Amino acid sequence: MQWKYYRPTPQYFLWIFALVYLLVGCNASAWLALSAIHASGISSIKTSDCDNLPGLINKQVQICKRNAEVMKSVSGGAVNAIHECQFQFANRRWNCSTIDAHNNAVFGNVLENGTREAAFVHAISSAAVAHSVTRACSSGGLLKCGCDRTISGTSDEGFTWSGCSDNVDYGIVFSQSFVDSREKKNKMKFDRYLMNIHNNDAGRRVIEENMRTECKCHGVSGSCEMKTCWRAMPTFRSVGEKLKEKFDGATEVVEVRDKKRKDLRPADKNFKPYTHTDLIYLVPSPDFCNPDYSTGSLGTKGRECNRTSKAMDGCDLMCCGRGFDTYQETITERCSCKFHWCCYVECKQCTKTIEIHKCK
Ligand SMILES: *[C@@H]1O[C@H](CO)[C@@H](O)[C@H](O)[C@H]1NC(C)=O
Ligand SMILES: *[C@@H]1O[C@H](CO)[C@@H](O)[C@H](O)[C@H]1NC(C)=O
Ligand SMILES: *[C@@H]1O[C@H](CO)[C@@H](O)[C@H](O)[C@H]1NC(C)=O
Repeated sequence: MQWKYYRPTPQYFLWIFALVYLLVGCNASAWLALSAIHASGISSIKTSDCDNLPGLINKQVQICKRNAEVMKSVSGGAVNAIHECQFQFANRRWNCSTIDAHNNAVFGNVLENGTREAAFVHAISSAAVAHSVTRACSSGGLLKCGCDRTISGTSDEGFTWSGCSDNVDYGIVFSQSFVDSREKKNKMKFDRYLMNIHNNDAGRRVIEENMRTECKCHGVSGSCEMKTCWRAMPTFRSVGEKLKEKFDGATEVVEVRDKKRKDLRPADKNFKPYTHTDLIYLVPSPDFCNPDYSTGSLGTKGRECNRTSKAMDGCDLMCCGRGFDTYQETITERCSCKFHWCCYVECKQCTKTIEIHKCK
């Protein structure tokens, strides 16, 4: 056998750090590795599979064995959480990129400290499980749950409650037992325990607080003589948007000991207390400007930025003052479209040159 020398890549270092991290055993989000199950296109998870799923602790394996039929939705939830995080953070220095490691620490080291980013990932993940499981209940795919039939009768506004109301209670209780079971009441890191539990809960509450009433009209030619309505969850996109706002307005907290109870309070006494749906964090985030394997930062070299924006996606902030390179790119698009009676649309192909900017 021939040995070859490979130059270690950045991923290699991330891999090692993430592995050490996993062995240390404080990776509360390792279950997000279940997203890989979803990607593999496996059609169902059986009780006998539970021992071999990635990233689960023993308590979660037990939950899996009692609820194998729900696990497909849990892994779908992990996928949604990661996608939504990447969508919401696409224009920020830390853009929620996952590392392709076989060690279940899908975000690398970024979640190690109690930062805003960790707060967001916890909230979106626990919300994603609640959302995905509830969706599965409503679509009739699960034996243990279905629509919420307690919402019935006639409303004060005169419509009839009917149809399938989303059984968000089931999804939330499931998410609570599955996701929160990761959190250990470690005496040394009790503040982090409190932070994680709070943010997990905040994510789920954002779903509850944004439940909508959806209706359908029945009657001759679209009139609304009779209206039936049901309770529906917000879309997961809007949960992501709400949580991103919570991320922007997150409260820094410190642990205080009051009588015998430990609690988290705003670090700045002039700040108003945080609510149940606010995100909280313990330590400021690194700036994510440069690659740093110890913090999981990939740096922003090569990232696209917007020359005129003053926001985080603007070149000043995105490139951390290092400047940027400008490239010309030719794109082809449909233009001068005409509608012909009846019925087709004719377009020309136009090419134009656009400028794109990338951080040095
Ligand atoms: C966590 O915080 C400590 C103390 O501030 C710091 O030394 C360490 O690099 C941080 N780790 C990560 C992964 O950000
Ligand atoms: C996210 O950031 C990394 C590192 O800066 C970059 O390689 C990657 O292309 C970015 N992803 C997106 C979708 O912009
Ligand atoms: C760049 O930012 C400006 C100002 O915020 C915005 O109007 C414009 O649409 C952005 N351009 C791109 C390509 O995103």
